[in-house]
Amino acid sequence: MSEAEGFRRVASLADVPPNQLLRVDVDGLPVCLAHADGRIYAFRDSCTHKEFPLSAGTLADGRVECAWHGARFALDTGRAVRLPAVKPVATYEVRVEDGEILVATTP
Ligand code: FES
Repeated sequence: MSEAEGFRRVASLADVPPNQLLRVDVDGLPVCLAHADGRIYAFRDSCTHKEFPLSAGTLADGRVECAWHGARFALDTGRAVRLPAVKPVATYEVRVEDGEILVATTP
């Protein structure tokens, strides 16, 4: 049972077309979903440079690029891979079940 394991339904797979980003709210926490390379990724929707929403950015090569100053983060680990950001962005576990996207924001 996913909900018992901390997973919450946050969107339908159809809501996040390939190479798109979507901001969702999970119990007040802003989360960005990314559909890249046939997978869904989830991470905090806040750039670690100046807290700009990463959902307003772009996707390329397994990374999300912040629209404000161009910092980039790896989708799988959240690691900052381009300045001006140096701190990683929090990432969350994702499951896709029956066309629904589930995210666990608590360990
Ligand atoms: S706020 Fe994201 S790079 Fe500056």
